[in-house]
Amino acid sequence: MKILNFGSCNIDYVYSLDHIVAVGETETSDKLEIFPGGKGLNQSIAAARAGAEVYHAGCVGEDGGLLTDVLLRSGVDLTYLKKIDGKSGHAIIQLSHKGANSIFLYPGANEKMTKEYIDEVLSHFEKGDILCLQNEINLVEYLVDKAYGKGMRIILNPSPFNEKLDKVDYGKLSFVILNEVEGRAIAGGGNDPAEILANIKAKYPRLEIVLTLGAKGCVYTDGDREIYHAAFDAPVIDTTAAGDTFTGYFMAELARGKDYPEILKIASAASALAISKKGAAPSIPLLSDVLKAADTLPLCE
Ligand code: RIB
Repeated sequence: MKILNFGSCNIDYVYSLDHIVAVGETETSDKLEIFPGGKGLNQSIAAARAGAEVYHAGCVGEDGGLLTDVLLRSGVDLTYLKKIDGKSGHAIIQLSHKGANSIFLYPGANEKMTKEYIDEVLSHFEKGDILCLQNEINLVEYLVDKAYGKGMRIILNPSPFNEKLDKVDYGKLSFVILNEVEGRAIAGGGNDPAEILANIKAKYPRLEIVLTLGAKGCVYTDGDREIYHAAFDAPVIDTTAAGDTFTGYFMAELARGKDYPEILKIASAASALAISKKGAAPSIPLLSDVLKAADTLPLCE
């Protein structure tokens, strides 16, 4: 079984600030750092650092050396990555001294997927292979339709959540990994996690759901079973890529054939380590550190 992550790569410009700038306010940043990031890239790196064999497809621009270098150094296979003219995607990230962030994106190369390119990449994958997707590239709905037609198992992390996702047929997905805001949007409402899960299940009975709840942990359900794992308690330095780290570790452990209680434990420990370090890709831990943390870190109350 192969893992293909078809997704975004961004250059992250991270500005440290006392607090996130409000509308009409001007603040001077005390530090600018440049990191490789993008939800797709972060998830591929997390899966590779978890020990999985992962192929990353998507587009980078002429300035994408920083992005391809870190993917290759992390052990991600770039056979199907496309280099194009023009700029790579980038993110402008405000990072407050308390670890909160606010992000806007310039899609650049991430919006240059074509149907021909997607068809060519998918021709190398088959029934049972995993396809992981997020919502930072164009043609996500086409990828879902084509991969479903081939019998691939599709994991969607519907993030960032916006109207582009209206075109996606959630009935064709195997898994969604989402937070409460995204969950409520797909569910069409829900006052608490239990209601959100029930509402999504009512709409898409075959879908397996992983709802991440930040410091309150995460929950998996396939409709019959509901499995919960508490969050690990770790100091918050920068939450950027914590969700991506969770998703990457989730797919790696899934491909390894682990059961859900163990998958949730490892993915939760990985994301706890990611929030304790600055940057997106640079904060993603190695499996050996994650295994240690899963046995030693305390759980949040
Ligand atoms: O999820 C974190 C990522 O979101 C950042 O690396 C940034 O590039 C944005 O895409």
